[in-house]
Amino acid sequence: MTENYKDRYKYLVQILNQYSFEYHTLDKPSVSDAIYDSLFSELKKIEEKNPEIISPNSPSRRVGNAISGGFNKVAHSSRMLSLNDVFNYSEVTQWFERILKINKSIEPVFFADIKMDGLACSLIYQDGEFQQAVTRGDSFIGEDVTSNVRTIKNIPFFFNDNEYSFLKSGRTEIRGEIVILKKDFEKINDSRLLQGETPFANPRNLAAGTIRQLDPKIASKRPLRFIAYDILRENKDEIRTNEVAYNMLTSIGFERNRQASKISSVKEVVDFIEYWSERRKELDFNTDGLVVKINDRNIFDNLGIVGKQPRGAIAFKYAPEEATAVVEDIIISIGRTGATTPVAVFEPVQLAGTTVKHASLHNSDEIDRLDVRIGDTVVVYKAGDIIPKISKVLFEFRNGKEKKFNFEEELKNKFPNEEFYRPKGEVVYRLKNSDSSILLKKNIIFYASKSGLDIEGLGEKNVNALVDSGLVKELSDIYDLKKEEILKLERFGEISANNLINAIEKSKNPTLERFLASLGVRYIGNETAKLFAKEFETIEKIKKASYDEIINIKGIGEKATESILAWFSEQENIELLEKLEQLGVVVKSFSQENKQGSLAGKKIVITGTLKDISREEFAKQIVENGGEFQKTITKDTDYLVIGAKVGSSKLAKAQKYSVAIIDEDKFRANFL
Ligand code: IVH
Repeated sequence: MTENYKDRYKYLVQILNQYSFEYHTLDKPSVSDAIYDSLFSELKKIEEKNPEIISPNSPSRRVGNAISGGFNKVAHSSRMLSLNDVFNYSEVTQWFERILKINKSIEPVFFADIKMDGLACSLIYQDGEFQQAVTRGDSFIGEDVTSNVRTIKNIPFFFNDNEYSFLKSGRTEIRGEIVILKKDFEKINDSRLLQGETPFANPRNLAAGTIRQLDPKIASKRPLRFIAYDILRENKDEIRTNEVAYNMLTSIGFERNRQASKISSVKEVVDFIEYWSERRKELDFNTDGLVVKINDRNIFDNLGIVGKQPRGAIAFKYAPEEATAVVEDIIISIGRTGATTPVAVFEPVQLAGTTVKHASLHNSDEIDRLDVRIGDTVVVYKAGDIIPKISKVLFEFRNGKEKKFNFEEELKNKFPNEEFYRPKGEVVYRLKNSDSSILLKKNIIFYASKSGLDIEGLGEKNVNALVDSGLVKELSDIYDLKKEEILKLERFGEISANNLINAIEKSKNPTLERFLASLGVRYIGNETAKLFAKEFETIEKIKKASYDEIINIKGIGEKATESILAWFSEQENIELLEKLEQLGVVVKSFSQENKQGSLAGKKIVITGTLKDISREEFAKQIVENGGEFQKTITKDTDYLVIGAKVGSSKLAKAQKYSVAIIDEDKFRANFL
């Protein structure tokens, strides 16, 4: 991939320009917005890494829409800016931290609104009377679209009388978004379909296309709406906060979102985002996010602009549920029931708020149906559940180097010692000689064995009896066993039944490494499980770990990496973990286990260059062993660990506070 980035780049430039033409000019996009955005972000990444190859015709060089010939150009009185996108909560926090760096006395008081997915428009009023409507254009200069905008029925030609009487004199600019409501859009498309016409792609496109029509009669027939989000006056002191601005908008007669609100902490911003994450789908118009701005407009202005974006506002974008990825490999996982599942592996992509690295391909028929090959660019999506899937291959990205995947051959190559068969009428290849109850028994015996969770009473004979009687149909059922049920089996009496229930109960709080090792994931034995536990600390984090994060752990190879990724990409395994949790199995996180580590309660400072470990890594090891890592020496520091090239000031301070000074090797030998 890396050596091919130039070809890839050229192709991305070409195809994105084509998609853009289909979208903007033909109103007939051949791919979804999410696919476009995903490819666009790939292009931007290549450009950021290799600025020397940026083509002047790259879609990243296009600012807004090109101004088309028919309309007069109008300069904006102040720029119509766009916003920086952020995609997760930590980016929201970082945004405000950056603001505090500029001026630490700024209060966390924000104003947040739904981000409408339409087209930006500025309306100019003189003495409270509508004069002119201008599109955003390139942010400095837009197009005069007054005659079309005049047809929008919810735009007032005159301001209502209201308590802000100064608005009746002088120039006022109202900014907002022109949208078409979802229900109106559907009606239009329904009737187009009835008349045998092709439906429009989406409301935003239709709204933008309508505003660009030279004949206003067309606009007048389309159900456009204007929803305002800003009001500007020459004298800025007249409107001090965005909260007041929104009140003004309502009192002079504009539609604006009722959901917009003032927010007084970063935490509440996050709550607001969370609140709308699902509810936004019920709104009348399309939205892909929220706008959050500093409420005080004076502070907002003083924070300034970087490029085309003001520092004082952000757009929070909800993660798309679709993205593109390049298939690097297809691996095969064998489930707990002996069923084989092919899993596509790719570079990490952002999908619906998480980083994903693999997608289930279900079975070999599905590989054939999609015609997925290694090297293909594919579309991955998340459909309600946790495991991403591939919806289609973008065949136009093929360059002839893609490799077909022969499922049967791969089974032979990867598992030379196993035999597989495909039961008649089924699409799934299974391990031979392993009907599901045999595998289930094996799994439970392994789970309960000495090297697993060590559950006394769950040896081979008892497990056979429990499974054969139907009391245990899957591993998690052991946590749901009732004494009365067990007593019905011949093998058990009062005491043995009690003992078994107690032993199972006692296994409910395992350490992470033991739990992981007892799941019987291929290539994940006790030692490997320990490495995983140390690195990730919780099962949740292991679940989310990417290929690179895992393979970079010292001592973990490719086989274990692929195996754990494949295991977590299977729905039935995820369900097993959920059921275990519901039944009261709480896995101790690694740090919990190590609270009483060799460095419990000790405070440690490092100075100098460490041998072959980074300072961060060393600090992490200290924490994992129960110690506390300090940046500077204080009077309660316990140890100063010294590496090479030590500065004298720390040593002097350590001596002053009688802190024990110890070199790296000795420290390691004693504590880590
Ligand atoms: S406030 C400095 N509020 O999103 C710009 N914009 O990327 C402040 N948009 O050009 C804009 N809904 O066209 C704001 N509730 C909302 C919005 C909104 C949609 C659009 C707007 C703007 C773009 C910013």
